[in-house]
Amino acid sequence: MTPTLSPGGGEDKGEGDERGNMRVLVVGSGGREHALVWRLAQSPQVTVLFAAPGNPGMARHARCVPIKADALDELGSFAERERIDLTVVGPELPLILGIADRFQAKGLAIFGPSQSAAALEGSKAFAKQLMAKHGIPTARFQAFRDAASARRFARELGAPLVVKADGPAAGKGAIVCRTLEEADNAIALCLEQRAFGRSGEQIVVEEFLVGEEASFFALTDGESALPLGTAQDHKTVFDDDQGPNTGGMGAYSPAPIVDALMHEQIMRTIILPTVQAMAAEGRPYRGVIYAGLMLTRDGPKVLEYNCRFGDPEHQTVMPRLEDDPLPLLHAVARGERLPATVRWRSEAAVCVVLASGGYPGEYQTGKPISGIEEAEKLSDVTVFHAGTTLQDGQLLTAGGRVLGVTALGADIAAAIDRAYEAVGKICFEGIHFRKDIGRKALTRRGR
Ligand code: AMP
Ligand code: GLY
Repeated sequence: MTPTLSPGGGEDKGEGDERGNMRVLVVGSGGREHALVWRLAQSPQVTVLFAAPGNPGMARHARCVPIKADALDELGSFAERERIDLTVVGPELPLILGIADRFQAKGLAIFGPSQSAAALEGSKAFAKQLMAKHGIPTARFQAFRDAASARRFARELGAPLVVKADGPAAGKGAIVCRTLEEADNAIALCLEQRAFGRSGEQIVVEEFLVGEEASFFALTDGESALPLGTAQDHKTVFDDDQGPNTGGMGAYSPAPIVDALMHEQIMRTIILPTVQAMAAEGRPYRGVIYAGLMLTRDGPKVLEYNCRFGDPEHQTVMPRLEDDPLPLLHAVARGERLPATVRWRSEAAVCVVLASGGYPGEYQTGKPISGIEEAEKLSDVTVFHAGTTLQDGQLLTAGGRVLGVTALGADIAAAIDRAYEAVGKICFEGIHFRKDIGRKALTRRGR
């Protein structure tokens, strides 16, 4: 899993190089973007790779430029000045703010949906109404701006139920309520106390679904769709799915629960109808559709859509992809047709997130990190940076999720063993991580 560009890479290999001559910019600074940069650096078609703003892990494969992911004007000017052939957007915020529209207006190729298509993630009420209108399976729901009506509908549904802020809320906008009292509090929190600001001016109240969750990724050019892997995330901070939700404490790929039959059903009943529905609504979707699914006894249902790759799921999908992702992302950006399939390596991948003590609540930063080199000496191990910074040559923690330690193995059990062996070599004050990443996949094997 060693990239072909040398450390400190991003150097120009020269125009007209027979291996390709693309100048690529990746927008973002987390583990997902490190996985993208790490993989794109291996593409023979890429001659120059930039990351904005990037992180110290990405700096090994790309030139990091200090432009924030939501500074759309600056990013646009940079891409023009540097004659960027393809920009790949990692996080949702710039997409929801309309980065793709701005780049396209300048004639710059960009991977990621337009602002109107990114509403699939940007507004849960829009996504739910789209699904209802086009018969895409999802939990029963209604959208509200008024608390009294929301409370009445909660009583119609009965507990447990889920209250969701309509707009982006940094992964904290879905509140699972075990009782009607909890539901009343959640409704008040959004609509009366305005805890999520404008994102919570509208809410969705929906039925609680029972089943196993899985993440499904598909690239789409607006018409056809190419499945790009499955994974399972671990959302809560503590083992055995205990404690508050986080951005994701670890993942594995592929998701064994998504067997061939389930895969076909998800493509037929969810992904393709979503692509067609978006086109029918005049919002053709070009980019990746990340469907967060609940696999229920009545079949797969959509919990939410995201308009970008998963984090940390992407850290497990990229290492498994045998084919070069660059031509796929470029085809999507240019609205060209996608191939019908991609090739995967036979191995499974596991990513264990190392977090700062206290995360997802308050946590300290600036703690020295050691042991990454030792961890990466193990074969098929890559340590993706998420919240790190370099100060006077010393790598320090700089975020809640600090690193994503990813390993390939012949199967998930082997990948788990290797990932945790690597984790054991890394140290920083207050480090905490889940010890049970991937265990759910193992218990499935006996079923
Ligand atoms: P979301 O932001 O919509 O993906 O929700 C975050 C998490 O809340 C999901 O990953 C689920 O664990 C849980 N959740 C959301 N909606 C539902 C639902 N309708 N039924 C059960 N759990 C849900
Ligand atoms: N892992 C959850 C997300 O990317 O939204």
